Amino acid sequence: MIPTQAPFPTTRFRRLRSSAALRALSRQNTLLVDDLIWPVFVRDGEGVREPVASMPGVDRLSIDVLVDEAAKAHALGIPAICIFPYTDPSLKTELCEEAWNPENLSNRAIRAIKAAVPEIAVMTDIALDPYNAYGHDGIVRDGIIVNDETVEALVKMAIAQAEAGADILGPSDMMDGRIGAMRGALEAGGHTNIAILSYAAKYASAYYGPFRDAVGASGALKGDKKTYQMDPGNSDEALRLIQRDLNEGADMVMVKPGLAYLDICHRVKDTFGVPTYAYQVSGEYAMIEAAAANGWIDGEKVMMESLLAFKRAGCDGILTYFAPRVAETLQNQ
Ligand code: PBG
Repeated sequence: MIPTQAPFPTTRFRRLRSSAALRALSRQNTLLVDDLIWPVFVRDGEGVREPVASMPGVDRLSIDVLVDEAAKAHALGIPAICIFPYTDPSLKTELCEEAWNPENLSNRAIRAIKAAVPEIAVMTDIALDPYNAYGHDGIVRDGIIVNDETVEALVKMAIAQAEAGADILGPSDMMDGRIGAMRGALEAGGHTNIAILSYAAKYASAYYGPFRDAVGASGALKGDKKTYQMDPGNSDEALRLIQRDLNEGADMVMVKPGLAYLDICHRVKDTFGVPTYAYQVSGEYAMIEAAAANGWIDGEKVMMESLLAFKRAGCDGILTYFAPRVAETLQNQ
């Protein structure tokens, strides 16, 4: 409810916009380095920095390079980094066994980062798509993505990541029942302090295109993800999913993609008041970069404005490929 306010000229909104000082004093929302989670892509090799064509400025990094970048991110004040593996096609199978291999790329990267930069929180992705011959987040049987068998595989994956030293687990698979199963296994295994950031309201979105290139899943993917990711027309379902995941043991929840789903971010924060995050996904990043490269927008300013929008909508933090650039921009302000 907006209280009644005096009419013009008693009220002049331009008074509080009249100088940088008054604008700063009256600003309601700000973007801070504390709000950032940096998603990164890791690949095999040494000294490798391989550009992702559809995401200018984003590279796939070998573990040694990633460790240096994690140290830089920590020095910039970024609280968390989120690891996504580019898996060699030869390791992709129908049952996705590489997903819970304690020595897989992702688990080796977690160990290396935690050994070198223990202060930065390491978040993981839990879904089978990087390891799946069919490119899906779940196990495929006769063309169907099977739920309960996938949950068993995801629990094994979660435990392997916990044992590698992950601080935050990020189930992005959208199977039913996975949060409860993971929480139970974590408690039983003595991993009582590992947080789960559930990709609770994740939509079947075309904005994920560049990411699937980055992790090498585009070629493998057969069909679409509409039987497990949400329909973009739905809003109430997002609240039910968030409530379900909180009840099953999620500590934090995510809405994904970001900017096109700000209404969902706002409803979630308003309804539950829990730690709420948005993922500014690969397609959002690519669109800003492409327009900026053409000189059509000021990329730096749109980057900052797009991220501030998440704070205004009520989010506590944002996963963004821009994280190090934002941290540098904030430092220089
Ligand atoms: C995999 C996963 C995806 C993203 C994060 N985890 C892709 C998908 O669901 O197809 C997308 C991230 C992005 O686009 O930046 N489960």
